[in-house]
Amino acid sequence: MATLEIKDLYASVETKEGRKQILKGVNLTVHSGETHAIMGPNGSGKSTLAYTLAGHPKYEVDSGQALLDGVDILKQKPNERAKEGLFLAMQYPVEVPGVSMTNFLRTAKTEIDGKAPAIRTWTRDLSEAMKKLRMDSKFASRSVNEGFSGGEKKRAEVLQLELLRPKFAILDETDSGLDVDALRIVSEGVNRAKDNTGLGILMITHYTRILKYIKPDIVHVFSNGRFVKTGGPELADELEDKGYDQYLPEGSNSESALA
Ligand SMILES: Nc1ncnc2c1ncn2[C@@H]1O[C@H](COP(=O)(O)OP(=O)(O)OP(=O)(O)O)[C@@H](O)[C@H]1O
Ligand SMILES: [Mg+2]
Repeated sequence: MATLEIKDLYASVETKEGRKQILKGVNLTVHSGETHAIMGPNGSGKSTLAYTLAGHPKYEVDSGQALLDGVDILKQKPNERAKEGLFLAMQYPVEVPGVSMTNFLRTAKTEIDGKAPAIRTWTRDLSEAMKKLRMDSKFASRSVNEGFSGGEKKRAEVLQLELLRPKFAILDETDSGLDVDALRIVSEGVNRAKDNTGLGILMITHYTRILKYIKPDIVHVFSNGRFVKTGGPELADELEDKGYDQYLPEGSNSESALA
Protein backbone atom coordinates (compact mmCIF):
# COMPACT_ATOMS: atom_id res chain seq x y z
CA MET A 1 0.00 0.00 0.00
CA ALA A 2 1.53 3.29 -1.14
CA THR A 3 0.38 6.90 -0.92
CA LEU A 4 1.08 9.89 -3.13
CA GLU A 5 0.31 13.15 -1.37
CA ILE A 6 0.52 16.46 -3.20
CA LYS A 7 0.54 19.34 -0.75
CA ASP A 8 -0.11 22.96 -1.67
CA LEU A 9 1.96 22.78 -4.85
CA TYR A 10 2.81 25.98 -6.72
CA ALA A 11 4.89 25.81 -9.91
CA SER A 12 5.92 28.13 -12.73
CA VAL A 13 7.20 27.98 -16.27
CA GLU A 14 9.68 30.33 -17.94
CA THR A 15 7.99 32.00 -20.92
CA LYS A 16 9.11 34.63 -23.42
CA GLU A 17 7.16 37.20 -21.40
CA GLY A 18 8.82 36.08 -18.14
CA ARG A 19 7.91 33.66 -15.42
CA LYS A 20 4.33 32.48 -15.35
CA GLN A 21 2.84 30.64 -12.41
CA ILE A 22 0.62 27.81 -13.64
CA LEU A 23 0.05 25.61 -10.58
CA LYS A 24 -1.60 27.57 -7.81
CA GLY A 25 -2.08 25.40 -4.75
CA VAL A 26 -2.61 21.80 -5.83
CA ASN A 27 -3.71 19.37 -3.14
CA LEU A 28 -4.39 15.69 -3.83
CA THR A 29 -3.97 12.34 -2.10
CA VAL A 30 -3.95 9.08 -4.07
CA HIS A 31 -3.61 5.59 -2.58
CA SER A 32 -2.58 2.36 -4.26
CA GLY A 33 -5.42 0.79 -6.20
CA GLU A 34 -7.35 4.06 -6.57
CA THR A 35 -8.20 5.65 -9.90
CA HIS A 36 -8.63 9.41 -9.96
CA ALA A 37 -9.91 11.08 -13.11
CA ILE A 38 -8.72 14.65 -13.63
CA MET A 39 -10.85 16.73 -15.98
CA GLY A 40 -10.61 20.41 -16.77
CA PRO A 41 -10.50 23.03 -19.50
CA ASN A 42 -7.65 23.43 -21.99
CA GLY A 43 -4.77 25.42 -20.57
CA SER A 44 -5.79 24.97 -16.93
CA GLY A 45 -2.47 23.31 -16.02
CA LYS A 46 -3.15 19.55 -16.05
CA SER A 47 -0.12 18.65 -18.15
CA THR A 48 1.95 21.13 -16.14
CA LEU A 49 0.99 19.19 -13.01
CA ALA A 50 1.98 15.91 -14.71
CA TYR A 51 5.33 17.29 -15.88
CA THR A 52 6.08 18.97 -12.57
CA LEU A 53 5.53 15.68 -10.73
CA ALA A 54 7.69 13.79 -13.23
CA GLY A 55 10.48 16.39 -12.99
CA HIS A 56 10.51 18.08 -16.40
CA PRO A 57 13.26 20.74 -16.16
CA LYS A 58 11.06 23.44 -17.75
CA TYR A 59 8.80 23.57 -14.72
CA GLU A 60 10.01 25.13 -11.52
CA VAL A 61 8.48 24.33 -8.15
CA ASP A 62 7.77 27.52 -6.22
CA SER A 63 6.54 25.81 -3.08
CA GLY A 64 4.79 22.71 -1.84
CA GLN A 65 5.52 19.01 -1.69
CA ALA A 66 4.74 15.74 -3.45
CA LEU A 67 5.26 12.95 -0.95
CA LEU A 68 5.51 9.39 -2.18
CA ASP A 69 5.28 7.34 0.99
CA GLY A 70 6.59 10.34 2.90
CA VAL A 71 9.54 11.08 0.57
CA ASP A 72 9.36 14.43 -1.24
CA ILE A 73 9.96 13.45 -4.86
CA LEU A 74 10.08 17.11 -5.95
CA LYS A 75 13.59 17.21 -4.49
CA GLN A 76 14.67 14.25 -6.63
CA LYS A 77 15.95 13.92 -10.19
CA PRO A 78 13.45 12.53 -12.75
CA ASN A 79 15.14 9.08 -12.83
CA GLU A 80 15.03 8.90 -9.02
CA ARG A 81 11.31 9.67 -9.09
CA ALA A 82 10.80 6.85 -11.58
CA LYS A 83 12.75 4.57 -9.28
CA GLU A 84 10.49 5.54 -6.38
CA GLY A 85 7.61 4.26 -8.51
CA LEU A 86 6.22 7.24 -10.42
CA PHE A 87 5.36 6.87 -14.10
CA LEU A 88 4.16 9.46 -16.60
CA ALA A 89 2.45 8.59 -19.88
CA MET A 90 2.88 11.86 -21.75
CA GLN A 91 0.17 13.69 -23.69
CA TYR A 92 2.67 14.03 -26.55
CA PRO A 93 5.19 11.17 -26.24
CA VAL A 94 8.65 12.17 -27.49
CA GLU A 95 10.45 10.45 -30.34
CA VAL A 96 13.91 9.08 -29.54
CA PRO A 97 15.62 8.35 -32.88
CA GLY A 98 18.42 5.79 -32.73
CA VAL A 99 17.18 4.06 -29.56
CA SER A 100 15.20 0.90 -30.18
CA MET A 101 12.10 0.14 -28.12
CA THR A 102 13.74 -3.07 -26.86
CA ASN A 103 16.87 -1.30 -25.67
CA PHE A 104 14.93 1.57 -24.18
CA LEU A 105 12.56 -0.70 -22.24
CA ARG A 106 15.33 -2.97 -21.00
CA THR A 107 17.47 -0.01 -19.90
CA ALA A 108 14.52 1.59 -18.12
CA LYS A 109 13.62 -1.69 -16.40
CA THR A 110 17.24 -2.19 -15.28
CA GLU A 111 17.46 1.36 -13.92
CA ILE A 112 14.16 1.11 -12.05
CA ASP A 113 14.69 -2.38 -10.57
CA GLY A 114 18.37 -1.77 -9.80
CA LYS A 115 19.30 -4.93 -11.72
CA ALA A 116 18.96 -6.23 -15.25
CA PRO A 117 15.92 -8.45 -15.86
CA ALA A 118 16.70 -12.12 -16.62
CA ILE A 119 16.91 -12.39 -20.42
CA ARG A 120 14.51 -15.31 -20.86
CA THR A 121 11.67 -14.01 -18.72
CA TRP A 122 12.17 -10.46 -20.02
CA THR A 123 11.93 -11.48 -23.68
CA ARG A 124 8.79 -13.47 -22.90
CA ASP A 125 7.24 -10.66 -20.83
CA LEU A 126 7.94 -8.12 -23.57
CA SER A 127 6.49 -10.18 -26.38
CA GLU A 128 3.42 -11.15 -24.31
CA ALA A 129 2.76 -7.56 -23.31
CA MET A 130 3.08 -6.44 -26.94
CA LYS A 131 0.77 -9.18 -28.10
CA LYS A 132 -1.89 -8.20 -25.55
CA LEU A 133 -1.67 -4.59 -26.73
CA ARG A 134 -1.96 -5.84 -30.34
CA MET A 135 1.42 -4.34 -31.19
CA ASP A 136 3.25 -5.97 -34.06
CA SER A 137 6.57 -7.49 -32.94
CA LYS A 138 8.33 -5.23 -35.49
CA PHE A 139 7.81 -2.32 -33.11
CA ALA A 140 10.40 -3.82 -30.74
CA SER A 141 13.22 -3.01 -33.16
CA ARG A 142 11.93 0.41 -34.19
CA SER A 143 13.25 3.61 -32.61
CA VAL A 144 11.19 4.81 -29.65
CA ASN A 145 8.05 6.51 -30.99
CA GLU A 146 9.80 7.53 -34.22
CA GLY A 147 7.20 7.67 -36.96
CA PHE A 148 4.62 5.98 -34.72
CA SER A 149 1.05 7.09 -35.35
CA GLY A 150 -0.72 8.93 -32.52
CA GLY A 151 -2.47 5.77 -31.37
CA GLU A 152 0.70 3.66 -31.65
CA LYS A 153 2.52 6.12 -29.37
CA LYS A 154 -0.21 5.74 -26.76
CA ARG A 155 0.05 1.95 -26.92
CA ALA A 156 3.82 2.24 -26.49
CA GLU A 157 3.25 4.30 -23.33
CA VAL A 158 0.96 1.62 -21.90
CA LEU A 159 3.51 -1.05 -22.86
CA GLN A 160 6.05 0.78 -20.70
CA LEU A 161 3.52 1.03 -17.90
CA GLU A 162 2.87 -2.71 -17.93
CA LEU A 163 6.55 -3.67 -18.02
CA LEU A 164 7.94 -1.12 -15.56
CA ARG A 165 5.28 -1.79 -12.88
CA PRO A 166 5.25 1.61 -11.15
CA LYS A 167 3.34 2.39 -7.94
CA PHE A 168 1.60 5.42 -9.44
CA ALA A 169 0.89 6.32 -13.04
CA ILE A 170 -0.13 9.68 -14.44
CA LEU A 171 -1.90 9.12 -17.74
CA ASP A 172 -2.04 12.42 -19.61
CA GLU A 173 -4.76 12.05 -22.23
CA THR A 174 -3.73 8.48 -22.99
CA ASP A 175 -7.20 8.10 -24.56
CA SER A 176 -6.83 11.00 -27.01
CA GLY A 177 -6.70 10.07 -30.67
CA LEU A 178 -7.54 6.41 -30.15
CA ASP A 179 -10.04 4.62 -32.36
CA VAL A 180 -12.76 2.63 -30.57
CA ASP A 181 -10.84 -0.67 -30.67
CA ALA A 182 -7.57 0.92 -29.58
CA LEU A 183 -9.36 2.67 -26.70
CA ARG A 184 -10.54 -0.70 -25.40
CA ILE A 185 -7.14 -2.37 -25.90
CA VAL A 186 -5.24 0.44 -24.18
CA SER A 187 -7.78 0.53 -21.33
CA GLU A 188 -7.43 -3.23 -20.85
CA GLY A 189 -3.65 -2.70 -20.55
CA VAL A 190 -4.12 -0.08 -17.85
CA ASN A 191 -6.60 -2.33 -16.01
CA ARG A 192 -4.16 -5.26 -16.21
CA ALA A 193 -1.44 -3.08 -14.67
CA LYS A 194 -3.87 -2.12 -11.92
CA ASP A 195 -4.92 -5.71 -11.23
CA ASN A 196 -1.35 -7.04 -11.29
CA THR A 197 0.36 -4.38 -9.22
CA GLY A 198 -2.26 -2.41 -7.27
CA LEU A 199 -1.32 0.67 -9.29
CA GLY A 200 -2.69 4.07 -8.25
CA ILE A 201 -3.83 6.06 -11.28
CA LEU A 202 -4.16 9.77 -12.06
CA MET A 203 -5.98 9.85 -15.33
CA ILE A 204 -6.16 13.19 -17.13
CA THR A 205 -8.90 13.10 -19.74
CA HIS A 206 -11.39 15.24 -21.63
CA TYR A 207 -13.79 12.43 -22.40
CA THR A 208 -16.11 10.23 -20.39
CA ARG A 209 -15.78 7.45 -22.99
CA ILE A 210 -12.57 6.09 -21.37
CA LEU A 211 -14.27 6.11 -17.96
CA LYS A 212 -16.53 3.32 -19.20
CA TYR A 213 -13.46 1.08 -19.43
CA ILE A 214 -11.32 2.45 -16.61
CA LYS A 215 -13.69 3.11 -13.75
CA PRO A 216 -12.68 6.11 -11.65
CA ASP A 217 -13.22 6.05 -7.88
CA ILE A 218 -12.97 9.82 -7.74
CA VAL A 219 -13.41 12.57 -10.33
CA HIS A 220 -11.76 15.98 -9.94
CA VAL A 221 -12.22 19.24 -11.78
CA PHE A 222 -8.97 21.13 -12.37
CA SER A 223 -9.28 24.80 -13.24
CA ASN A 224 -6.87 27.72 -13.19
CA GLY A 225 -4.03 25.77 -11.59
CA ARG A 226 -5.82 23.90 -8.84
CA PHE A 227 -8.50 21.35 -8.02
CA VAL A 228 -11.80 23.15 -7.61
CA LYS A 229 -14.26 20.28 -7.20
CA THR A 230 -14.15 16.61 -6.28
CA GLY A 231 -16.91 14.06 -6.62
CA GLY A 232 -17.82 10.54 -7.65
CA PRO A 233 -18.10 9.15 -11.19
CA GLU A 234 -21.37 11.06 -11.67
CA LEU A 235 -19.38 14.31 -11.72
CA ALA A 236 -17.87 13.27 -15.10
CA ASP A 237 -21.35 12.96 -16.61
CA GLU A 238 -22.33 16.33 -15.21
CA LEU A 239 -19.23 17.91 -16.78
CA GLU A 240 -20.02 16.36 -20.14
CA ASP A 241 -23.54 17.83 -19.94
CA LYS A 242 -22.79 21.26 -18.58
CA GLY A 243 -19.14 22.03 -19.42
CA TYR A 244 -16.72 23.86 -17.17
CA ASP A 245 -18.15 27.38 -17.11
CA GLN A 246 -19.26 27.20 -13.49
CA TYR A 247 -15.72 26.20 -12.42
CA LEU A 248 -13.83 28.90 -14.33
CA PRO A 249 -12.55 32.09 -12.70
CA GLU A 250 -15.10 34.87 -12.58
CA GLY A 251 -15.49 36.82 -15.80
CA SER A 252 -14.27 34.04 -18.11
CA ASN A 253 -15.95 31.17 -19.87
CA SER A 254 -14.64 28.16 -21.74
CA GLU A 255 -14.64 30.11 -25.03
CA SER A 256 -12.73 33.08 -23.62
CA ALA A 257 -10.39 31.11 -21.34
CA LEU A 258 -7.87 30.60 -24.13
CA ALA A 259 -8.21 34.06 -25.65
N1 LIG B 1 6.77 27.21 -22.19
C1 LIG B 1 5.61 27.85 -22.04
N2 LIG B 1 5.48 29.11 -22.47
C2 LIG B 1 4.32 29.78 -22.33
N3 LIG B 1 3.23 29.26 -21.74
C3 LIG B 1 3.30 28.01 -21.29
C4 LIG B 1 4.48 27.22 -21.42
N4 LIG B 1 4.25 26.01 -20.88
C5 LIG B 1 2.97 26.03 -20.45
N5 LIG B 1 2.41 27.23 -20.70
C6 LIG B 1 1.00 27.64 -20.45
O1 LIG B 1 0.56 27.03 -19.26
C7 LIG B 1 -0.84 26.82 -19.30
C8 LIG B 1 -1.15 25.39 -18.87
O2 LIG B 1 -0.75 24.48 -19.88
P1 LIG B 1 -1.01 22.91 -19.75
O3 LIG B 1 -0.36 22.27 -20.92
O4 LIG B 1 -0.57 22.46 -18.41
O5 LIG B 1 -2.60 22.85 -19.85
P2 LIG B 1 -3.56 21.59 -19.89
O6 LIG B 1 -4.54 21.75 -18.76
O7 LIG B 1 -2.79 20.33 -19.95
O8 LIG B 1 -4.36 21.82 -21.26
P3 LIG B 1 -4.90 20.75 -22.37
O9 LIG B 1 -6.23 20.25 -21.85
O10 LIG B 1 -5.09 21.60 -23.59
O11 LIG B 1 -3.88 19.67 -22.56
C9 LIG B 1 -1.25 27.14 -20.73
O12 LIG B 1 -1.86 28.41 -20.75
C10 LIG B 1 0.06 27.13 -21.49
O13 LIG B 1 0.01 27.99 -22.61
MG1 LIG C 1 -2.51 18.85 -21.34
